[in-house]
Amino acid sequence: MGSDPLRSLTPFILSTMKVITSADSLKPFRGCAFVPTMGALHDGHLSLIREAKNADKTVVVSIFVNPEQFAPEEDLDKYPRNLEQDCAFAESVGADVVFAPSVETMYPTGSNESLSNLHIPWAATKPLLEDACRPTHFLGVCVAVARLFDLVQPSITVFGLKDYQQYLVIKQLIEQEGKRWSDLQIIGAGIIRDDGGLAMSSRNVYLTTDQRSQALGLHKAIRCSTEKAMLETLDVYGLDVEYAVIRDSETLLAPIEGKPTRALVAARLGHIRLIDNAPVNMGVQL
Ligand code: PAF
Repeated sequence: MGSDPLRSLTPFILSTMKVITSADSLKPFRGCAFVPTMGALHDGHLSLIREAKNADKTVVVSIFVNPEQFAPEEDLDKYPRNLEQDCAFAESVGADVVFAPSVETMYPTGSNESLSNLHIPWAATKPLLEDACRPTHFLGVCVAVARLFDLVQPSITVFGLKDYQQYLVIKQLIEQEGKRWSDLQIIGAGIIRDDGGLAMSSRNVYLTTDQRSQALGLHKAIRCSTEKAMLETLDVYGLDVEYAVIRDSETLLAPIEGKPTRALVAARLGHIRLIDNAPVNMGVQL
């Protein structure tokens, strides 16, 4: 808490892209296309920024490692942080503004206060997937994202489908809050994978070469058409499974005949937690 994340970044304008930290400086960018991130930008994030760019609006990218969405045993302190490099990456794909708020700017009166204004969407509690494995996670995500939407006032926001349950949670949050973020439209951007099929994630940097090969089991598993086959595949790759399910794509509850379904997995490799998903009915997203 307390330190200015930009203290090492001078000047505050990197060529044409602005880097700002205060809520007031955001005012000229209302109605922008907005990509919220926690930094450690990789090709997956860059694809979200490119998607935002397609909207032909000013593109604002936020970089805020949100303490509220990490449980005490999770990797908040170890989470990779490199603002300067992130700004350079964001700029390379055409971001116009990076908003890098401090914890105080995000939560001036503490996060519980922000929480009391929010109705947590059912997608954050009913599917018993990420919500069961990380019980406080979506509360923290909703608090941060709601605060960011209040500050940024975008007209479009882009979320990655890699975090599919998060995408549904935010979609519902926007629907539920009605006029709070008037006419805000959410876009779900497709998953970016490396050549072997491993979905891009900020946590991939922790994987050893052997673990990288094991991690490919997730991609193999989401191409299966039954949960049994998914579990067997994850087992072959020596992955410690948290869930491997096929669910209704819209609700993440039990599949309904004739409706689109999605295969979703979460598994651990030592202390590294990986997730992935793909549509089942419509063929596999590579
Ligand atoms: O997906 C993420 O990086 C985070 O959950 C988000 C949406 C930026 C909220 O902190």
